[in-house]
Amino acid sequence: MDFELKTLSLAAAAGEKCDALILLVGESFKPGKDALSRLAAEAIKARDLEPKPGKLLQAYRAPGIAAARVVLAGAGDGSGKRVHAAVQAAVGALRSNSVKRLVICLAPEAQADAVRAAVTATAESSYVYVATKSKPEGRELQRVTVAVADAGRHAQAFAAARAAAEGIEFARELGNLPPNVATPTRLGEEARKLAKRHGFQCEVMGPREIAKHKMGSFLAVAKGSEQEPRFIVLRHQGAAASEPPVVLVGKGITFDSGGISIKPSQDMDEMKFDMGGAASVLGTFRALGEVKPALNVIGVIPSCENMPDGRSVKPGDIVTSMSGQTIEVLNTDAEGRLILCDALTYAERFKPAAVVDIATLTGACVIALGGVRSGMFASDDELAADLLAAGDAALDPCWRMPLDDEYGEGLKSNFADAANVAGRAGGSITAAKFLQRFAGNYPWAHLDIAGTAWKGGPAKGSTGRPVGLLVQFLLGRQGTAPAKTAAKRAPAKTAARARGKASR
Ligand code: BES
Ligand code: MN
Ligand code: ZN
Repeated sequence: MDFELKTLSLAAAAGEKCDALILLVGESFKPGKDALSRLAAEAIKARDLEPKPGKLLQAYRAPGIAAARVVLAGAGDGSGKRVHAAVQAAVGALRSNSVKRLVICLAPEAQADAVRAAVTATAESSYVYVATKSKPEGRELQRVTVAVADAGRHAQAFAAARAAAEGIEFARELGNLPPNVATPTRLGEEARKLAKRHGFQCEVMGPREIAKHKMGSFLAVAKGSEQEPRFIVLRHQGAAASEPPVVLVGKGITFDSGGISIKPSQDMDEMKFDMGGAASVLGTFRALGEVKPALNVIGVIPSCENMPDGRSVKPGDIVTSMSGQTIEVLNTDAEGRLILCDALTYAERFKPAAVVDIATLTGACVIALGGVRSGMFASDDELAADLLAAGDAALDPCWRMPLDDEYGEGLKSNFADAANVAGRAGGSITAAKFLQRFAGNYPWAHLDIAGTAWKGGPAKGSTGRPVGLLVQFLLGRQGTAPAKTAAKRAPAKTAARARGKASR
């Protein structure tokens, strides 16, 4: 889908040739003398339209307006959140019409967050999965014009939002693919394709190279599957080689049956989404490829299936991780942490400014936070604050959870350095405490996206979260300027903090 940002008055927008036009009407709406203003003002006066978000009024062939369909959409206070809800509702209402060309008119006082929300909400609500349908009925929408009072002022926010939308969509598409298609091998191929298209460096390791790196914990999970594991490393080098990178580590379990500690069959199909962390790293790189920020970012993806087999790792088995720490596998369904721990050790070699891992890690996180906020754990307060702020700004929010050492006590093992599970209490926290044992040498954060990466029920499907958060977080580290025009590098404070902080 093509997005463009254009300076248009409401009078000019009324003359735009398109299939549909969405006019956002906020509480501070001041009608002019043009046809669109008249329509909205009359509707408000007649109490047929309220400026509340979610409220809609549709008109057909309204006088003086070139678009056949007009949707007036209440946008409340005009904030990003309200604009997102309004555009979502309006694009949803237009879904059954064949709208190829759409114009969205924002209020003259619209801020960057409103522009961002208009773009991401449009992309989100018009997405249609077709990859494995035999008679694909795809997305109708082809071109979307976001009309603002001053396009120049919003050009940067718009470009970032368009890139984020592409990344989110890429992650959604990968997440939605069935597990017999989105295999570890396929994820490796997707990473290679991204690298080729955008000029990233890319390395995809198979079982032999993984074994050479002594990733015994990752390989223990992988060995119950017919599918070969992949360990993917993607690099965006937008800054000097001396600049320490941010490393994103994504859990890439392409199907989680639970292994020998097998899961109940109810909803087991949803465990195809267990590569949501990996998909979000690839989606973030998709966005980085568009914006090319002046930053160094490395993506690390351990990917395999978790399956029951005669060769599978068993409860009671003890494995040796790349760090040298031994792990007693008490539950083979706690496999995410077993593959991530080796990836976190591997990440040390990059002397990172920060490492953020992203994983559909625990059902307990779904119980704690539901589907609204991702769980966020961090060994570094400033990293935590940055992630929290980025999530709120991108409307892809997270919530900080605790890491007190007492939570790690249940991971003690009589036979190894640690067990891979503790009791049921605080399950998302004990999982994070397990990971923290391997993330000691850099500022580290962990996003548990078990509740946010996909939706179940009738609207079953991947959300593409937390690509929005990650893109916002990364672009925030280099100011907001794209690489070409960026005069300044990452703020001194960021670099100093990255090097100076102890992490545990
Ligand atoms: N991929 C699951 C986590 C999950 C479960 C996400 C349900 C979303 C919905 C993970 O590998 C897992 O199975 N975790 C176990 C850990 C337990 C055995 C300590 C869980 O949460 O039940
Ligand atoms: Mn599992
Ligand atoms: Zn899993």
